[in-house]
Amino acid sequence: MAARLPASALLLLVAIVAATNGMDAEGGGGGGFGDSGGGECDAMMNPDDTCGDASSLDGGAPEDADGSSPPGETTGILLRSECVDKEPRCPGWAAEGECDKNPDYMLLDCAVSCNSCPEPVVISTEDALMLEAVARYGKAQRVERRRRIPSRPALLPGELNAMFERIVNTAPGNMTDPNYVIEDGMTNYTVTVHSRPRAFGPNEERVISAERDLNEPPWVITFDNFITEEECKHLIDLGYKSEYERSEDVGELLPDGSFESVQNESRTSTNAWCSEKNKCRNDEVAKMIHNRIAKVTGIPPENSEDFQILKYEPGQFYRQHHDYIAFQRDRRCGPRILTFFLYLSDVEEGGATNFPDLNIAVKPKVGRALLWPSVLDSNPKDKEPRTDHEAQDVIKGVKFGANSWMHLHDYIAAQEMGCT
Ligand SMILES: *[C@@H]1O[C@H](CO)[C@@H](O)[C@H](O)[C@H]1NC(C)=O
Ligand SMILES: *[C@@H]1O[C@H](CO)[C@@H](O)[C@H](O)[C@H]1NC(C)=O
Ligand SMILES: *[C@@H]1O[C@H](CO)[C@@H](O)[C@H](O)[C@H]1NC(C)=O
Repeated sequence: MAARLPASALLLLVAIVAATNGMDAEGGGGGGFGDSGGGECDAMMNPDDTCGDASSLDGGAPEDADGSSPPGETTGILLRSECVDKEPRCPGWAAEGECDKNPDYMLLDCAVSCNSCPEPVVISTEDALMLEAVARYGKAQRVERRRRIPSRPALLPGELNAMFERIVNTAPGNMTDPNYVIEDGMTNYTVTVHSRPRAFGPNEERVISAERDLNEPPWVITFDNFITEEECKHLIDLGYKSEYERSEDVGELLPDGSFESVQNESRTSTNAWCSEKNKCRNDEVAKMIHNRIAKVTGIPPENSEDFQILKYEPGQFYRQHHDYIAFQRDRRCGPRILTFFLYLSDVEEGGATNFPDLNIAVKPKVGRALLWPSVLDSNPKDKEPRTDHEAQDVIKGVKFGANSWMHLHDYIAAQEMGCT
Protein backbone atom coordinates (compact mmCIF):
# COMPACT_ATOMS: atom_id res chain seq x y z
CA MET A 1 0.00 0.00 0.00
CA ALA A 2 1.35 3.38 -0.94
CA ALA A 3 1.96 5.87 1.79
CA ARG A 4 -0.11 9.03 1.69
CA LEU A 5 2.24 11.87 2.27
CA PRO A 6 2.03 15.58 2.62
CA ALA A 7 3.36 17.59 -0.26
CA SER A 8 6.34 18.64 1.80
CA ALA A 9 7.57 15.11 2.19
CA LEU A 10 9.80 15.39 -0.75
CA LEU A 11 12.78 14.29 -2.59
CA LEU A 12 14.31 11.76 -0.31
CA LEU A 13 10.95 10.52 0.73
CA VAL A 14 11.50 7.57 -1.09
CA ALA A 15 9.73 5.00 -3.01
CA ILE A 16 10.61 1.78 -1.36
CA VAL A 17 10.95 -0.30 -4.45
CA ALA A 18 12.48 -3.50 -3.24
CA ALA A 19 12.32 -5.16 0.07
CA THR A 20 14.99 -7.79 -0.11
CA ASN A 21 14.31 -8.91 3.41
CA GLY A 22 10.57 -8.87 3.12
CA MET A 23 9.82 -5.77 5.09
CA ASP A 24 6.35 -4.42 4.75
CA ALA A 25 6.85 -1.09 3.09
CA GLU A 26 3.60 0.40 4.22
CA GLY A 27 4.03 3.91 5.44
CA GLY A 28 0.62 5.46 5.77
CA GLY A 29 -1.85 5.43 8.54
CA GLY A 30 -0.15 8.09 10.56
CA GLY A 31 -2.51 10.87 9.61
CA GLY A 32 -2.02 14.36 10.88
CA PHE A 33 1.70 14.49 10.23
CA GLY A 34 1.30 17.27 7.74
CA ASP A 35 3.77 20.06 7.65
CA SER A 36 2.45 23.00 9.55
CA GLY A 37 4.94 25.16 7.71
CA GLY A 38 6.81 28.13 8.95
CA GLY A 39 9.85 26.57 10.59
CA GLU A 40 11.87 29.65 11.52
CA CYS A 41 15.17 27.97 11.01
CA ASP A 42 14.20 26.89 7.56
CA ALA A 43 13.07 30.41 6.80
CA MET A 44 16.36 31.74 8.08
CA MET A 45 18.47 29.45 6.00
CA ASN A 46 21.07 30.89 3.73
CA PRO A 47 23.78 29.31 1.63
CA ASP A 48 26.29 29.15 4.42
CA ASP A 49 23.49 27.84 6.33
CA THR A 50 23.18 27.70 10.04
CA CYS A 51 20.31 25.30 10.06
CA GLY A 52 20.92 22.86 7.29
CA ASP A 53 23.52 21.75 4.86
CA ALA A 54 22.76 21.24 1.24
CA SER A 55 26.20 19.94 0.45
CA SER A 56 25.26 16.48 1.57
CA LEU A 57 22.09 16.59 -0.45
CA ASP A 58 22.08 12.92 -1.23
CA GLY A 59 21.78 12.28 2.44
CA GLY A 60 21.22 8.65 1.68
CA ALA A 61 24.80 8.36 0.46
CA PRO A 62 26.14 4.88 1.08
CA GLU A 63 28.84 6.00 3.51
CA ASP A 64 26.13 7.43 5.72
CA ALA A 65 23.92 4.43 5.42
CA ASP A 66 26.69 1.95 6.06
CA GLY A 67 27.21 3.06 9.61
CA SER A 68 24.17 1.28 10.89
CA SER A 69 24.55 -2.08 9.18
CA PRO A 70 27.43 -4.47 9.63
CA PRO A 71 30.02 -4.59 6.83
CA GLY A 72 29.10 -7.03 4.11
CA GLU A 73 25.44 -6.85 5.04
CA THR A 74 23.48 -7.24 1.83
CA THR A 75 19.91 -7.18 3.05
CA GLY A 76 18.25 -3.85 3.33
CA ILE A 77 15.88 -1.55 1.57
CA LEU A 78 16.66 -0.06 -1.80
CA LEU A 79 15.66 3.56 -1.81
CA ARG A 80 15.02 5.26 -5.08
CA SER A 81 14.17 8.86 -4.60
CA GLU A 82 11.44 10.44 -6.56
CA CYS A 83 13.27 13.02 -8.64
CA VAL A 84 11.38 15.75 -10.40
CA ASP A 85 11.59 19.47 -10.99
CA LYS A 86 9.01 20.97 -8.70
CA GLU A 87 8.67 24.14 -10.74
CA PRO A 88 8.28 24.61 -14.48
CA ARG A 89 10.79 27.47 -14.24
CA CYS A 90 13.56 25.17 -12.98
CA PRO A 91 15.38 24.73 -16.30
CA GLY A 92 15.50 28.50 -16.76
CA TRP A 93 16.78 29.14 -13.28
CA ALA A 94 19.39 26.42 -13.69
CA ALA A 95 20.55 28.04 -16.95
CA GLU A 96 21.06 31.28 -15.02
CA GLY A 97 23.36 29.57 -12.54
CA GLU A 98 20.88 29.35 -9.67
CA CYS A 99 21.95 25.78 -8.84
CA ASP A 100 25.22 27.25 -7.54
CA LYS A 101 23.84 30.51 -6.24
CA ASN A 102 20.87 29.11 -4.38
CA PRO A 103 21.67 25.45 -3.77
CA ASP A 104 19.45 25.08 -0.70
CA TYR A 105 16.38 25.53 -2.77
CA MET A 106 17.56 24.47 -6.20
CA LEU A 107 19.31 21.18 -5.52
CA LEU A 108 16.19 19.82 -3.90
CA ASP A 109 13.35 21.40 -5.77
CA CYS A 110 14.98 21.57 -9.21
CA ALA A 111 16.93 18.35 -8.90
CA VAL A 112 16.48 17.28 -12.51
CA SER A 113 17.68 20.61 -13.91
CA CYS A 114 20.54 20.81 -11.42
CA ASN A 115 21.49 17.21 -12.08
CA SER A 116 21.32 16.56 -8.35
CA CYS A 117 19.07 13.52 -8.22
CA PRO A 118 20.42 11.17 -5.59
CA GLU A 119 21.64 7.72 -6.55
CA PRO A 120 19.54 4.83 -5.34
CA VAL A 121 21.01 3.43 -2.15
CA VAL A 122 20.52 0.39 0.00
CA ILE A 123 20.01 1.16 3.67
CA SER A 124 19.04 -0.88 6.66
CA THR A 125 15.41 -1.58 7.36
CA GLU A 126 15.65 0.41 10.55
CA ASP A 127 16.97 3.47 8.71
CA ALA A 128 14.30 3.11 6.06
CA LEU A 129 11.53 3.10 8.63
CA MET A 130 13.09 6.07 10.31
CA LEU A 131 13.42 8.05 7.10
CA GLU A 132 9.88 7.39 6.25
CA ALA A 133 8.66 8.48 9.66
CA VAL A 134 10.89 11.51 9.61
CA ALA A 135 9.56 12.55 6.24
CA ARG A 136 6.11 12.53 7.70
CA TYR A 137 7.24 14.85 10.45
CA GLY A 138 7.52 17.74 8.08
CA LYS A 139 9.69 20.64 7.24
CA ALA A 140 12.12 20.84 10.11
CA GLN A 141 13.23 17.34 9.36
CA ARG A 142 13.80 18.17 5.73
CA VAL A 143 16.71 20.26 6.86
CA GLU A 144 18.07 17.45 8.90
CA ARG A 145 17.66 14.96 6.08
CA ARG A 146 19.90 17.00 3.88
CA ARG A 147 22.64 17.02 6.44
CA ARG A 148 22.91 13.26 6.76
CA ILE A 149 20.79 10.27 7.48
CA PRO A 150 18.77 11.99 10.15
CA SER A 151 19.00 11.21 13.76
CA ARG A 152 15.99 9.23 14.73
CA PRO A 153 13.23 11.24 16.37
CA ALA A 154 13.19 10.34 20.07
CA LEU A 155 9.68 9.00 19.76
CA LEU A 156 7.65 7.69 16.87
CA PRO A 157 3.89 7.26 17.13
CA GLY A 158 3.08 4.62 19.73
CA GLU A 159 6.46 4.81 21.43
CA LEU A 160 5.53 7.19 24.22
CA ASN A 161 3.21 4.70 25.86
CA ALA A 162 5.65 1.88 25.20
CA MET A 163 8.41 3.88 26.90
CA PHE A 164 6.36 4.44 30.04
CA GLU A 165 5.31 0.77 30.14
CA ARG A 166 8.93 -0.26 29.92
CA ILE A 167 10.02 2.19 32.63
CA VAL A 168 7.35 0.88 34.99
CA ASN A 169 8.22 -2.74 34.26
CA THR A 170 11.97 -2.37 34.70
CA ALA A 171 12.34 -0.25 37.86
CA PRO A 172 15.22 -1.92 39.74
CA GLY A 173 13.66 -1.35 43.16
CA ASN A 174 10.45 -3.07 42.02
CA MET A 175 12.20 -6.15 40.64
CA THR A 176 11.40 -9.33 42.49
CA ASP A 177 14.31 -11.29 40.99
CA PRO A 178 16.87 -11.54 43.83
CA ASN A 179 19.72 -11.80 41.30
CA TYR A 180 18.84 -8.53 39.59
CA VAL A 181 22.01 -6.50 39.10
CA ILE A 182 21.86 -2.71 39.12
CA GLU A 183 23.86 -1.32 36.23
CA ASP A 184 26.76 1.08 36.65
CA GLY A 185 25.62 4.65 37.05
CA MET A 186 22.09 3.58 37.93
CA THR A 187 20.33 3.57 41.31
CA ASN A 188 17.89 1.21 42.98
CA TYR A 189 14.91 3.42 42.28
CA THR A 190 11.26 2.42 42.54
CA VAL A 191 8.52 3.71 40.26
CA THR A 192 5.02 4.74 41.29
CA VAL A 193 2.29 5.24 38.72
CA HIS A 194 -0.04 8.17 39.41
CA SER A 195 -1.91 8.17 36.14
CA ARG A 196 -1.77 5.98 33.05
CA PRO A 197 -3.76 5.15 29.95
CA ARG A 198 -5.46 1.79 29.95
CA ALA A 199 -3.29 -0.85 28.27
CA PHE A 200 -4.66 -2.62 25.19
CA GLY A 201 -6.40 -5.89 25.95
CA PRO A 202 -4.92 -9.07 24.46
CA ASN A 203 -7.57 -9.29 21.76
CA GLU A 204 -8.08 -5.59 21.29
CA GLU A 205 -7.07 -3.95 18.05
CA ARG A 206 -4.11 -1.67 18.79
CA VAL A 207 -5.33 1.58 17.34
CA ILE A 208 -2.98 4.47 18.01
CA SER A 209 -4.99 7.65 17.66
CA ALA A 210 -5.35 11.08 19.17
CA GLU A 211 -8.92 10.17 19.97
CA ARG A 212 -7.84 7.24 22.11
CA ASP A 213 -5.07 9.31 23.70
CA LEU A 214 -7.55 11.94 24.78
CA ASN A 215 -10.03 9.39 26.07
CA GLU A 216 -7.44 7.85 28.37
CA PRO A 217 -5.56 9.52 31.23
CA PRO A 218 -2.01 10.62 30.41
CA TRP A 219 1.03 9.10 32.08
CA VAL A 220 2.37 10.61 35.28
CA ILE A 221 4.96 8.62 37.23
CA THR A 222 7.42 9.26 40.04
CA PHE A 223 10.73 7.62 40.89
CA ASP A 224 11.93 7.37 44.47
CA ASN A 225 15.68 7.21 45.16
CA PHE A 226 16.37 8.13 41.56
CA ILE A 227 19.33 10.23 42.61
CA THR A 228 21.31 9.99 45.83
CA GLU A 229 21.41 12.67 48.51
CA GLU A 230 25.05 13.39 47.65
CA GLU A 231 24.12 13.87 44.00
CA CYS A 232 21.30 16.22 45.06
CA LYS A 233 23.71 18.30 47.15
CA HIS A 234 26.15 18.37 44.27
CA LEU A 235 23.52 19.66 41.83
CA ILE A 236 22.41 22.33 44.31
CA ASP A 237 26.06 23.45 44.59
CA LEU A 238 26.41 23.49 40.82
CA GLY A 239 23.41 25.81 40.86
CA TYR A 240 25.20 28.17 43.26
CA LYS A 241 28.32 28.11 41.06
CA SER A 242 26.23 28.91 37.99
CA GLU A 243 24.32 31.49 40.07
CA TYR A 244 20.62 31.43 40.80
CA GLU A 245 18.78 34.28 39.12
CA ARG A 246 15.14 35.24 38.86
CA SER A 247 13.39 32.67 36.60
CA GLU A 248 12.10 33.87 33.26
CA ASP A 249 9.53 32.73 30.73
CA VAL A 250 9.63 32.62 26.95
CA GLY A 251 8.38 35.91 25.54
CA GLU A 252 8.04 37.50 22.12
CA LEU A 253 9.71 36.48 18.87
CA LEU A 254 12.69 38.73 18.14
CA PRO A 255 13.84 39.76 14.65
CA ASP A 256 16.81 37.36 14.74
CA GLY A 257 14.47 34.40 15.15
CA SER A 258 15.18 33.92 18.85
CA PHE A 259 12.70 34.54 21.63
CA GLU A 260 12.84 37.08 24.37
CA SER A 261 13.07 36.02 28.04
CA VAL A 262 10.70 37.85 30.32
CA GLN A 263 10.07 37.99 34.03
CA ASN A 264 6.52 37.17 34.96
CA GLU A 265 4.80 37.67 38.26
CA SER A 266 3.32 34.17 37.93
CA ARG A 267 6.82 32.70 38.35
CA THR A 268 8.88 33.88 41.32
CA SER A 269 11.57 31.23 41.77
CA THR A 270 15.24 31.68 40.97
CA ASN A 271 17.15 29.28 38.74
CA ALA A 272 20.58 28.52 37.29
CA TRP A 273 21.30 26.87 33.95
CA CYS A 274 23.77 23.99 34.08
CA SER A 275 25.28 24.64 30.67
CA GLU A 276 28.44 23.75 28.80
CA LYS A 277 29.32 27.42 28.74
CA ASN A 278 29.66 27.63 32.51
CA LYS A 279 31.35 24.21 32.64
CA CYS A 280 28.43 22.68 34.50
CA ARG A 281 26.96 20.30 31.94
CA ASN A 282 30.23 18.40 31.67
CA ASP A 283 30.57 18.06 35.42
CA GLU A 284 30.92 14.34 36.21
CA VAL A 285 27.79 14.18 38.34
CA ALA A 286 25.65 16.29 36.02
CA LYS A 287 26.75 14.12 33.11
CA MET A 288 26.02 10.92 35.02
CA ILE A 289 22.50 12.09 35.81
CA HIS A 290 21.84 13.12 32.21
CA ASN A 291 23.02 9.64 31.23
CA ARG A 292 20.85 7.99 33.86
CA ILE A 293 17.80 9.80 32.53
CA ALA A 294 18.82 8.80 29.01
CA LYS A 295 19.13 5.18 30.02
CA VAL A 296 15.74 5.13 31.70
CA THR A 297 13.90 6.89 28.88
CA GLY A 298 15.90 5.49 25.97
CA ILE A 299 16.30 9.06 24.70
CA PRO A 300 19.83 10.39 24.09
CA PRO A 301 21.19 12.93 26.59
CA GLU A 302 21.68 15.40 23.72
CA ASN A 303 17.90 15.63 23.43
CA SER A 304 17.75 17.22 26.87
CA GLU A 305 18.11 20.90 27.50
CA ASP A 306 20.65 21.88 30.11
CA PHE A 307 19.44 21.22 33.63
CA GLN A 308 17.55 24.21 34.92
CA ILE A 309 18.33 24.11 38.64
CA LEU A 310 15.62 25.78 40.69
CA LYS A 311 15.38 27.34 44.09
CA TYR A 312 12.04 28.24 45.70
CA GLU A 313 12.10 30.04 49.02
CA PRO A 314 9.05 30.43 51.24
CA GLY A 315 6.31 32.29 49.36
CA GLN A 316 7.78 31.44 45.92
CA PHE A 317 5.84 29.52 43.27
CA TYR A 318 5.26 28.91 39.58
CA ARG A 319 1.59 29.27 38.67
CA GLN A 320 -0.25 26.94 36.33
CA HIS A 321 1.42 26.52 32.95
CA HIS A 322 2.41 23.94 30.35
CA ASP A 323 5.96 23.05 29.29
CA TYR A 324 5.18 22.57 25.58
CA ILE A 325 6.49 25.49 23.49
CA ALA A 326 4.47 25.69 20.30
CA PHE A 327 7.01 27.48 18.11
CA GLN A 328 9.56 24.68 18.60
CA ARG A 329 7.31 22.22 16.83
CA ASP A 330 8.96 22.79 13.48
CA ARG A 331 12.35 23.90 14.66
CA ARG A 332 15.33 21.65 14.51
CA CYS A 333 15.10 20.68 18.19
CA GLY A 334 11.44 19.72 17.87
CA PRO A 335 9.02 20.27 20.72
CA ARG A 336 9.54 19.37 24.33
CA ILE A 337 8.15 15.87 24.63
CA LEU A 338 8.83 15.05 28.29
CA THR A 339 9.65 16.77 31.53
CA PHE A 340 11.97 14.84 33.84
CA PHE A 341 11.84 16.83 37.07
CA LEU A 342 14.27 16.12 39.93
CA TYR A 343 13.50 17.00 43.55
CA LEU A 344 16.79 17.87 45.23
CA SER A 345 15.56 18.65 48.74
CA ASP A 346 12.88 17.77 51.28
CA VAL A 347 10.48 20.64 51.89
CA GLU A 348 8.86 20.97 55.29
CA GLU A 349 5.61 22.38 53.96
CA GLY A 350 4.23 23.26 50.53
CA GLY A 351 6.05 23.18 47.19
CA ALA A 352 4.13 20.29 45.64
CA THR A 353 3.91 19.89 41.87
CA ASN A 354 0.19 19.98 41.22
CA PHE A 355 -1.61 18.88 38.03
CA PRO A 356 -5.00 20.63 38.33
CA ASP A 357 -6.62 18.74 35.44
CA LEU A 358 -5.55 15.35 36.79
CA ASN A 359 -6.01 15.88 40.49
CA ILE A 360 -2.45 14.75 41.20
CA ALA A 361 -0.07 16.56 43.56
CA VAL A 362 3.48 15.28 44.00
CA LYS A 363 5.32 16.24 47.16
CA PRO A 364 8.98 17.14 47.04
CA LYS A 365 11.32 14.53 48.51
CA VAL A 366 15.06 14.44 48.20
CA GLY A 367 16.09 12.05 45.38
CA ARG A 368 12.59 11.80 43.93
CA ALA A 369 11.91 12.39 40.22
CA LEU A 370 8.69 13.09 38.37
CA LEU A 371 8.12 12.30 34.70
CA TRP A 372 5.23 13.35 32.48
CA PRO A 373 4.62 13.89 28.76
CA SER A 374 3.97 17.21 27.03
CA VAL A 375 2.90 15.45 23.82
CA LEU A 376 0.57 12.70 22.66
CA ASP A 377 1.48 9.08 22.03
CA SER A 378 -0.22 9.16 18.62
CA ASN A 379 1.84 12.12 17.43
CA PRO A 380 4.82 13.20 19.51
CA LYS A 381 4.71 16.66 17.92
CA ASP A 382 1.22 17.39 19.24
CA LYS A 383 0.54 18.86 22.64
CA GLU A 384 -0.92 16.75 25.43
CA PRO A 385 -3.41 19.29 26.71
CA ARG A 386 -3.92 17.87 30.20
CA THR A 387 -0.46 18.15 31.72
CA ASP A 388 -0.74 21.72 32.88
CA HIS A 389 0.94 21.95 36.26
CA GLU A 390 2.01 24.40 38.93
CA ALA A 391 4.70 24.59 41.58
CA GLN A 392 2.68 25.40 44.68
CA ASP A 393 3.93 27.98 47.15
CA VAL A 394 6.68 26.83 49.43
CA ILE A 395 5.45 27.51 52.95
CA LYS A 396 8.30 26.25 55.09
CA GLY A 397 11.79 25.20 54.04
CA VAL A 398 13.55 25.66 50.69
CA LYS A 399 12.70 23.66 47.61
CA PHE A 400 15.51 22.80 45.23
CA GLY A 401 14.73 21.02 41.98
CA ALA A 402 15.97 20.57 38.44
CA ASN A 403 14.19 20.36 35.10
CA SER A 404 15.39 18.17 32.28
CA TRP A 405 13.23 19.09 29.30
CA MET A 406 13.56 16.43 26.66
CA HIS A 407 13.02 17.25 23.00
CA LEU A 408 11.98 15.22 20.00
CA HIS A 409 15.36 15.88 18.34
CA ASP A 410 18.93 16.65 19.31
CA TYR A 411 18.69 19.84 21.37
CA ILE A 412 22.42 20.42 21.73
CA ALA A 413 23.03 20.37 17.98
CA ALA A 414 20.09 22.70 17.44
CA GLN A 415 21.30 25.04 20.17
CA GLU A 416 24.75 25.27 18.57
CA MET A 417 23.08 26.39 15.35
CA GLY A 418 20.74 28.83 17.08
CA CYS A 419 17.76 26.75 16.02
CA THR A 420 15.92 26.31 19.25
C1 LIG B 1 16.59 -2.51 45.80
O1 LIG B 1 15.46 -2.07 46.51
C2 LIG B 1 14.53 -3.13 46.82
C3 LIG B 1 13.35 -2.50 47.53
O2 LIG B 1 12.78 -1.51 46.75
C4 LIG B 1 15.19 -4.18 47.67
O3 LIG B 1 14.31 -5.25 47.91
C5 LIG B 1 16.44 -4.70 46.96
O4 LIG B 1 17.12 -5.58 47.80
C6 LIG B 1 17.35 -3.55 46.60
N1 LIG B 1 18.46 -4.06 45.77
C7 LIG B 1 19.71 -3.73 45.98
C8 LIG B 1 20.71 -4.38 45.10
O5 LIG B 1 20.05 -2.94 46.85
C1 LIG C 1 7.40 -0.17 43.37
O1 LIG C 1 7.75 -0.18 44.73
C2 LIG C 1 7.26 0.95 45.48
C3 LIG C 1 7.86 0.86 46.87
O2 LIG C 1 7.69 -0.40 47.39
C4 LIG C 1 5.74 0.91 45.47
O3 LIG C 1 5.22 1.98 46.21
C5 LIG C 1 5.27 0.98 44.03
O4 LIG C 1 3.88 0.90 43.95
C6 LIG C 1 5.89 -0.14 43.21
N1 LIG C 1 5.59 0.09 41.82
C7 LIG C 1 5.02 -0.80 41.03
C8 LIG C 1 4.82 -0.39 39.62
O5 LIG C 1 4.67 -1.91 41.41
C1 LIG D 1 2.59 35.63 32.66
O1 LIG D 1 2.26 34.25 32.59
C2 LIG D 1 0.87 34.02 32.43
C3 LIG D 1 0.63 32.53 32.54
O2 LIG D 1 1.50 31.81 31.74
C4 LIG D 1 0.43 34.59 31.10
O3 LIG D 1 -0.96 34.38 30.91
C5 LIG D 1 0.74 36.07 31.08
O4 LIG D 1 0.42 36.59 29.82
C6 LIG D 1 2.19 36.33 31.39
N1 LIG D 1 2.45 37.74 31.52
C7 LIG D 1 3.41 38.36 30.87
C8 LIG D 1 3.57 39.82 31.20
O5 LIG D 1 4.13 37.79 30.06
